[in-house]
Amino acid sequence: MKTPSTPRRQFVKAAAAASAGFLILPSGTLFGQNRPGNKLNIALIGCWGRATAHRAMLHNENVVAICDINSKALAAAGEEFPGAKKYKDWRKCLDQKDIDAVVCCTPDHHHAFISIWAMNRGLHVYGEKPLANSVEEARMVRSTYLKNKGKLATQCGTQRHFGSNFARTRELVKGGAIGDLKSVHAWGNRTHNITGYQPESGSAPDFIDWDLWTGPSPKHPFNPAYFTAAKRNQVVSYFDSDSKNWPTGSNCLSWNMYRDFGNWQIGDMGSHTMDLAFNPLDADYPISAQGEGDPFNKDIAPSMMNSTCINPANDWRGKISVTWHQGGSMPKSPLSALDLNKIGHGALFKGSQGFLVCDFTTRMVIPYGPKANMSYYEPSKEAVKKSDITDFGHEWTNACKTDLKTSCNYDYSGVMIEQLLLGLVAYDVGKKLDYDPKKMYVKNSSEANQRLRKQYRQGWALNG
Ligand SMILES: NC(=O)c1ccc[n+]([C@@H]2O[C@H](COP(=O)([O-])OP(=O)(O)OC[C@H]3O[C@@H](n4cnc5c(N)ncnc54)[C@H](O)[C@@H]3O)[C@@H](O)[C@H]2O)c1
Repeated sequence: MKTPSTPRRQFVKAAAAASAGFLILPSGTLFGQNRPGNKLNIALIGCWGRATAHRAMLHNENVVAICDINSKALAAAGEEFPGAKKYKDWRKCLDQKDIDAVVCCTPDHHHAFISIWAMNRGLHVYGEKPLANSVEEARMVRSTYLKNKGKLATQCGTQRHFGSNFARTRELVKGGAIGDLKSVHAWGNRTHNITGYQPESGSAPDFIDWDLWTGPSPKHPFNPAYFTAAKRNQVVSYFDSDSKNWPTGSNCLSWNMYRDFGNWQIGDMGSHTMDLAFNPLDADYPISAQGEGDPFNKDIAPSMMNSTCINPANDWRGKISVTWHQGGSMPKSPLSALDLNKIGHGALFKGSQGFLVCDFTTRMVIPYGPKANMSYYEPSKEAVKKSDITDFGHEWTNACKTDLKTSCNYDYSGVMIEQLLLGLVAYDVGKKLDYDPKKMYVKNSSEANQRLRKQYRQGWALNG
């Protein structure tokens, strides 16, 4: 482990001062913004699937390292980034000396590890959602970021946040359009019918390192189903000889319901949809959680469930309840004519003077009661700022080179995913949990405390 290097700190300072030209560091090395072309040296970990959505961002920078456990995916990425060194073990990749920043697109059970290891080495991180797979992982990712705040830019891959509806919804809720905020619901409609891990089905083909894929999680027999996804009613597979038929960010649905690899919709669409609901709240950690849903399965995350957390009051609102629903659980609609089931992934805010219902791109305010003439609400007069930032990924690369500010840094995103994951623990133990957020400790359930953490295979340290 090492702390961020002096040269990188100097680069940030120089960048924040908007200094033009190159900074030649004492070592004679040119870093980041100060390197010719103003480009970051990026390591891409997990080269196919979701990583294909980041190609535009990556081609604007220098990709100097690529890492994948699938040697065919690695070779295909190598053709796109011919200057990059190739790795199959991300632990070795992160030790390459000229890296400034990491883009992590692996399956979920590596996310917290890669983020923490990267930040410990002084590297900026764009990490695909979910930020973590357990409460402890979420806590450690956030605390590692907070230790490095002012030196590193982080972005959790909840790119829908860049859409203006997130900011407009926040303005309405925080600005008082529905009065005093009382409760919040977010939901997603995806379901699954998996009941146990896949059975053994021969050994992995030689181009897939199954042991490294499993990584820190307990060992499970190989099965090609983990590499084969349904996309728009077509089957796409990493076993297809044509890379055009490999999954592009849908294969996560083949492994993320298995608890050793993911937490189903909590980590998947929950990361996006709770972001829509959480963004206006300025919420700190919750003080309680409870959950219910499908019968408990120790291997598989539930398809249908909901969980409710209580978040303490802050300087502009009282205590609120925040509920996550998935797989058919839904909040009650505020209007009989409004069928919330028609909104696949959405959020509902309840206030003393009305409701706000939204999805990722649209929103509606429903005032209610005789006093709700909205005279109490002053719409924001601030003009929407013009920005040169083109998208969510660009927000991060720009932040790495300038002020380190991103909208989904690991501070905000760490609190949000910890809350969702605590809700899952409450569902698992079937009990209302009294949570001491300062100590990351459940006061009334030793079983729940055990479930805040995962057991890892020997040789895999979360804080490495
Ligand atoms: N932000 C979004 O909208 C969005 C959309 C889809 C997926 N995702 C996220 O992206 C991640 C990847 O999902 P996916 O569908 O691309 O999965 P995937 O199974 O297709 O895996 C992506 C790539 O990672 C590689 N990989 C697997 N284990 C690795 C390891 N240990 N080291 C290096 N590379 C490894 C795979 O070989 C593959 O090339 C998930 O965490 C998912 O939640 C985000």
